[in-house]
Amino acid sequence: MKKALITGISGQDGSYLTELLLSKGYQVHGMIRRSSTFNTGRIDHIYRDPHNGDKARMRLYYGDLTSTDSLQNVISEVEPDEIYNLAAQSHVRVSFDMPEYTGDVTGLGTLRLLEAIRRTGAKVRFYQASTSELFGSASPPQSEATPFEPQSPYAAAKAYAHWVTQNYREGYGVFASSGILFNHESPRRGETFVTRKITRAVAAILAGKQEHLYMGNLDSKRDWGYAPEYVEVMWRLLQHDEPMDLVIGTGESHTVREFLEEAFGYVNLDYQDYVRIDPQYFRPTEVDFLLADARKAKDVLGWEPRIRFKDLARIMMDADLELLGLEAPGDGKCLLAERFDGWHRWEDQIVSMDK
Ligand SMILES: NC(=O)c1ccc[n+]([C@@H]2O[C@H](COP(=O)([O-])OP(=O)(O)OC[C@H]3O[C@@H](n4cnc5c(N)ncnc54)[C@H](OP(=O)(O)O)[C@@H]3O)[C@@H](O)[C@H]2O)c1
Repeated sequence: MKKALITGISGQDGSYLTELLLSKGYQVHGMIRRSSTFNTGRIDHIYRDPHNGDKARMRLYYGDLTSTDSLQNVISEVEPDEIYNLAAQSHVRVSFDMPEYTGDVTGLGTLRLLEAIRRTGAKVRFYQASTSELFGSASPPQSEATPFEPQSPYAAAKAYAHWVTQNYREGYGVFASSGILFNHESPRRGETFVTRKITRAVAAILAGKQEHLYMGNLDSKRDWGYAPEYVEVMWRLLQHDEPMDLVIGTGESHTVREFLEEAFGYVNLDYQDYVRIDPQYFRPTEVDFLLADARKAKDVLGWEPRIRFKDLARIMMDADLELLGLEAPGDGKCLLAERFDGWHRWEDQIVSMDK
């Protein structure tokens, strides 16, 4: 049974990756931060208390990317075959408010993890969560060959993490790969990220709980994909013979305004009646246009996205409507999404493995 260690297991991607790896028969170990309130809402449905039987294939450990000893301890204890470094202060706007902290967690945190791997001599495959924000103001479409022009403390910290990952690959022979992922969303996306902020607001407006939605720049263009498809690439990347950097995206880009049109339009509302602009959401430096050239992912891994912009908006709208007890309009849930819903039924697979 392979063992995976996931930092950021309580995040959007961490939760989907955990489901995927459990469904593939892995033992999954996750690092969570100590917090005064529960922060495991995204993984509660798959966590089993180890006291309740011997089938617990998922373990959680307290740790933090700012704490070297916690990283060394968890690596020594788990002895993982694969490490997925998904933890980060991952919010671009917040990184302008907390630049030093973002650099410490998102940038130096990756170095601490790689250094722990080097020092413990762990024979492990390492995945680094790089981002399209690295490209910043570089002209679209962006591929592995596009030079980085980071436009935020978050992107600068991720650039450091990206380069140091490459450095440990080349300098110390660590099997370290970076997925340069363009934006990916889902019903589990953090509530303050723009797509989720919109779909939650539409549902709240429809339920009579909210009057207006305050937004920043509506003209930024992003390449938005579906998170469960993207975590599958993380796993595939670590199964490949060679470590590498790989761009992942849909090759389709839309403005925030288009996402508003899609989400409000889904429930027959006009976004212009509800959306107000609040300058506090503008960033000191904006990233205008991100568009993936993911041809290498197709060539090397045979990977292609299946969920596109409209389906993504619908999946997210359906989930947020359901959360507020509202009926989804149209023909109900997107069929393709059901494939991913199956992942969290990993216990069925243990039964078949035992047989
Ligand atoms: N989603 C995207 O569109 C996208 C695109 C490209 C790259 N990425 C990167 O991919 C990774 C996963 O993204 P995501 O959307 O899943 O992010 P997310 O939902 O914000 O999750 C971030 C995770 O990191 C944890 N974390 C934050 N600070 C930490 C610290 N100091 N020590 C340990 N853990 C810490 C969080 O824990 P809490 O739950 O306690 O907060 C959470 O589990 C991130 O590195 C992100 O920057 C995301």
